[in-house]
Amino acid sequence: MLEVIPADATEEIALARSIDFARLPRHVAIIMDGNGRWARQRHKRRIDGHRAGTVSVREVVETAARVGIEVLTLYAFSVENWKRPKREISALMALLRRYLTAELATLIRSNVRLRLLGRLSELPRDVQAGLEDAMASTRQCTGLTLNVALNYGGRTEIVDAVRGLLAAMSLDGRAPESIDEAALATHLYTAGQPDPDLLIRTSGELRVSNFLLWQIAYAEIWVGEVLWPDFRRRHFLEALRDYQGRERRYGGLASPQ
Ligand code: IPE
Ligand code: IPE
Ligand code: MG
Repeated sequence: MLEVIPADATEEIALARSIDFARLPRHVAIIMDGNGRWARQRHKRRIDGHRAGTVSVREVVETAARVGIEVLTLYAFSVENWKRPKREISALMALLRRYLTAELATLIRSNVRLRLLGRLSELPRDVQAGLEDAMASTRQCTGLTLNVALNYGGRTEIVDAVRGLLAAMSLDGRAPESIDEAALATHLYTAGQPDPDLLIRTSGELRVSNFLLWQIAYAEIWVGEVLWPDFRRRHFLEALRDYQGRERRYGGLASPQ
């Protein structure tokens, strides 16, 4: 029997065909923005927007794992987000706890390793415990590494890296001249991981909001008008396709035509 494929699916198949899966970005980082605006448009509470955003998280993690991205970093809560109303913050923390409990088995089944970026010691105790458990139970996974940036600030990360580096240097008596970029990078939260090749931001805002300041030095940036709760596999594939059309020069010259 002939199956009728909806127009959306046909479009998605064409999109997938336009991507060279042998040349994917190794690391994709996403500023998941626009949950509040999504809720406001529907006369709902901001937290309803955050809840709807977890559907997008699930779809993006699944897609990234399936296509073979090495590292996916999701910006979930910034050090600046503590400025928000207490009610919104505790609802966000509750959502995070629920997400981890509900998704852990799926993450393990999809061979996804969870890693947290941020000052975890400043998070509520029960959230910390849940995160430690989740990280421990995915430690053996060898597929996608899913970084969740939580209580994360790019400047805070650099401060923490400098502290770590100085502590290590005072132990082994290294001179300041021995510091180079690689030495500092080994003390970042992302130590050992490649820098993001592609940075995605939803909801049209043209700023980096203190995200991965060190690591995005040469990332390609993709900004979409789509609000995070509406972000679907199609948008992710669109960003991958656009990324493959970019010419990365790293300060050098364009390759000869
Ligand atoms: C992003 O959505 C989620 C978090 C920062 C936790 P926002 O809550 O920032 O949504 P807008 O930007 O107000 O629409
Ligand atoms: C960035 O979004 C932080 C996260 C997505 C977690 P914000 O909504 O907090 O950023 P600004 O305030 O618009 O710069
Ligand atoms: Mg926002």
